Amino acid sequence: MQIVITKDYEAMSRSAAAVIAAQVIAKPDAILGLATGSTPVGLYRNLVAGCAAGDLDFSHITTVNLDEYAGLDGTHDQSYRYFMNHNLFDHVNIDKANTNVPNGKAEDPDAECARYEALLKKLGPADIQLLGMGHNGHIGFNEPGDAFIAPTHVVELTESTINANARFFASRDEVPKKALTMGMGAIMRARRVLVVVSGHDKARAVKDAFAGPITPKCPASILQLHPDVVLVGDEAALSGLLEAGVQV
Ligand code: F6R
Repeated sequence: MQIVITKDYEAMSRSAAAVIAAQVIAKPDAILGLATGSTPVGLYRNLVAGCAAGDLDFSHITTVNLDEYAGLDGTHDQSYRYFMNHNLFDHVNIDKANTNVPNGKAEDPDAECARYEALLKKLGPADIQLLGMGHNGHIGFNEPGDAFIAPTHVVELTESTINANARFFASRDEVPKKALTMGMGAIMRARRVLVVVSGHDKARAVKDAFAGPITPKCPASILQLHPDVVLVGDEAALSGLLEAGVQV
């Protein structure tokens, strides 16, 4: 694993964006696995700037997103489709037909998961998969549990995740209780994984994931088995890992 430690959120965003930018430049028809949440917002801002400057060309890029809330339409301002359009796709020269997010409004969520999994298999492994991390160690919406689940699946969100995401909704009651998420299979098949973390509130989860046992109780710990992980985090988020003696 490669660990990049930065001073603060802005520096983390620039460094992580550079990793994605290098992929886009090296392979103009790359498949990018993308994430939502507050952590990658600055990274996306840097990619938008790179495209506006003429340094990055997304015209042949394909994207696959990790997850979507069940029950939210892509026009809902808290849906992950809306987030992606708003933070990246609307501002770069990507063909939206080549951007993929699970359909949260599908009548049959299990069938939608099967469709998405088949699509992931057809496209082949992501060249790079971007991940944020939940306070409970979740990646995508793979919540702590008794087993790592391989395919795209419907998940009941935990209290911890609902509480963390309530900040984006008018009230906690409005936070969807279920989501559709890429499973560990597609995440682990990605050729490279880029994990972004920021802030003291992530320090414990980062330490558990990368310096603790590999267990589905901390879903991100599975990444210890991936051959090419780049962890980019600010000093605050990586503080627990450094205290645990992990060398940077
Ligand atoms: C988002 C996702 C989640 C987030 C995680 C961290 O697509 O899959 O796993 O990456 O909840 O969210 P933030 O960045 O808001 O702390």
